[in-house]
Amino acid sequence: MTLQAIKYDGTQLSILDQLQLPHNLEYIQIRSAEEGWHAIKEMKVRGAPAIAIVAALSLAVELKSLMTHGKLSTSAEEVQLLIREKLHYLTTSRPTAVNLSDAARKLEAHVSTEAKKSDSTGNSVASAFMDAAAKMLTDDLTDNQNIGKYGADWLIQNTAGTGQQEINVLTHCNTGSLATSGYGTALGVIRALHSKKVLGRAYCTETRPYNQGSRLTAFELVHDNIPSTLITDSMAAALLSSKERRVSAIVVGADRVAANGDTANKIGTYGLAVLARHHGLKFLVAAPRTTIDLQTKSGEDIIIEERPAAEVTRIKGAREGYEGNDSIATIRVAAPGIDVWNPAFDVTPSALIDGIITEVGVVERGADGSFDFERIFQN
Ligand code: MRU
Repeated sequence: MTLQAIKYDGTQLSILDQLQLPHNLEYIQIRSAEEGWHAIKEMKVRGAPAIAIVAALSLAVELKSLMTHGKLSTSAEEVQLLIREKLHYLTTSRPTAVNLSDAARKLEAHVSTEAKKSDSTGNSVASAFMDAAAKMLTDDLTDNQNIGKYGADWLIQNTAGTGQQEINVLTHCNTGSLATSGYGTALGVIRALHSKKVLGRAYCTETRPYNQGSRLTAFELVHDNIPSTLITDSMAAALLSSKERRVSAIVVGADRVAANGDTANKIGTYGLAVLARHHGLKFLVAAPRTTIDLQTKSGEDIIIEERPAAEVTRIKGAREGYEGNDSIATIRVAAPGIDVWNPAFDVTPSALIDGIITEVGVVERGADGSFDFERIFQN
């Protein structure tokens, strides 16, 4: 059983508080869109698919509660307006991952169709929203399992030339069960390789400054008994050039893939793509189609979130010998007064990407060097 970041039963929503991982496994309840917004902003939940799902479900539980307490308007139009306003508010929590605004746009359209029906009521509009939000949770899991399957098959075919029996993969940030409704995207590919018994070892980077790799991915890999090794970000070049460790590919997730294939993902991804090209290794992006943003022409148009300086100047961890909440401490690691730049993401140019693994197959660059996503949006 993989870790479950999001628990939803139609009435209640709780999320695994990722700020406390890997030290404490504590679920916190989310009762409204406002609580959902704060959980996303403060990164209690993070990862492109997970933030979209939690945003939608946070509004679903708020609507359910209004309904139960007889406080929901009977007017379809008023409920539609309420949903629209709350969705717009939720999209202001984090700007880079497109999954959140994509989900808001689709949910808004779905609700609008329901509200237009001649017999629609406040309750029917809210129910249409809640059903669509719940479906996001189940669809994401299926999508990830398919991403895993396509990615593993692609790697088996395309790294065979290295003459290796087992495939060693490097990944960055956290793209697993904690960043999705389950299984994961890039980590899903690693999981699928492991199930097929062809994974040698998964290497994960620490992923400074927020340490999604050492805190979250390492935790998931150990939890799921996947052979794995943690490195600091600065060790990636040495790892890729190591003849003993023989890494064949880098697989990462994405927060937004532009129409030309330029990909925004966790800061440090671009550097890894440059390293992969230098070493002649495959560099793959694993992401559901909801992460591909055809409205954004290229990486230049992607808004990169900048986060507080304290995430760079301080580090959070557990004090040895202490238990539970008491163990968690934050310490300063940088000289007081230093100026800090903390972009949370960078953009990898499409030319450095060998393939984009989606739930309907792997998109490779065509003969002209460009990605053509039209095909995968036709079904
Ligand atoms: O800042 P985060 O932790 O939300 O960033 C997450 C990433 O960059 C992931 O690689 C991306 O969202 C894909 S998660 C399946």
